[in-house]
Amino acid sequence: MNKKDIDWSNLGFSYIQTDKRYVANYKNGKWDEGGLTDKATIEMSECACVLQYAQTCFEGLKAYTTADGRIVCFRPDLNAKRMADSCRRMKMPVFPEEKFVEAVIETVRANAEWVPPYGSGASLYLRPFMFGSDAIIGVKPANEFQFRIFATPVGPYFKGGVKPLTLRVSDFDRAAPRGTGHIKAGLNYAMSLYAIVDAHEQGYDENVYLDSGSRTYIEETGGANIIFVTKDNKIVTPKSDTILPSITRRSLLHVAAEYLGLEVEEREIPLSEVPEFAECGLCGTAAVISPVGKIVDHGKEICFASGMTEMGPVTKKLYDTLRGIQMGTIEGPEGWLQVIV
Ligand code: PLP
Ligand code: COI
Repeated sequence: MNKKDIDWSNLGFSYIQTDKRYVANYKNGKWDEGGLTDKATIEMSECACVLQYAQTCFEGLKAYTTADGRIVCFRPDLNAKRMADSCRRMKMPVFPEEKFVEAVIETVRANAEWVPPYGSGASLYLRPFMFGSDAIIGVKPANEFQFRIFATPVGPYFKGGVKPLTLRVSDFDRAAPRGTGHIKAGLNYAMSLYAIVDAHEQGYDENVYLDSGSRTYIEETGGANIIFVTKDNKIVTPKSDTILPSITRRSLLHVAAEYLGLEVEEREIPLSEVPEFAECGLCGTAAVISPVGKIVDHGKEICFASGMTEMGPVTKKLYDTLRGIQMGTIEGPEGWLQVIV
């Protein structure tokens, strides 16, 4: 297979149009057959529910080339399940979970020339999403929906690769108690745009949000979960009903306990406890594991012992092990790699 002529090692995280995408439409109470198309644009009513009332949700996962030349995806069944949860909360029809995985496989296979080679540090990012497509003017769910998956080759989400990030404690909230913070609804990201632009303007890489109920506990950032490492090498991560259940974080907790023999704790983490930790990292499909060097709380700097030049030692072990499993150089738990080619 001829790969596309791309400088894979210098890719950032931006959209590059690839050859094929998957589309299925829901009308009169059922999904059509669905299939691949070349058409990268969408035409719909000016009054489409997604345009008026943001009825949309999405997923994110990656395809990789392994050390032995296979193309694989990481745990797509969990993305299928989480998207089903998002759809139920957003009053959208569930796209059947097995069909979701098949559609991912079809999309990657059709864009195999866009899957970055092993060792490039890049991957093929897949963006499944669904939206209400028919005209809705009174506030209610759409009757017609489209499910799509496009693929785009990406490099690191944060510029600078593994250089530790500086976060700030945001004065804005991300998710309300009993709201939609636990699902991947587009609206969660729309309302974070003001805060992210403001953070960048103030010189920070990202916002860390507190629970909006009490503004006491650490939640997550705009696009990734958070993990901390204690001075005695325990992995601690926030437990909250208003954060996205990250597939990367769930996988890392398993890796920490089962592969590295580390103790793991999922619990409420007060902001006041953060200075006690030795290391901090953001985790997610796009973020992979991005080290955090510093969190700034209204001018007060919380600096992690791991510093501002490299990943902390425990974070690095977690990163190497997860990467190894994704790249097929470390044997992963049963079912974690979906082989595509
Ligand atoms: N939290 C938020 C708000 C996200 O957008 C993402 C990205 O998907 C994550 C966490 C990480 O989730 P995952 O590891 O499943 O990609
Ligand atoms: C992902 O990690 O897949 C996400 O959806 C996060 C987004 C901010 C790019």
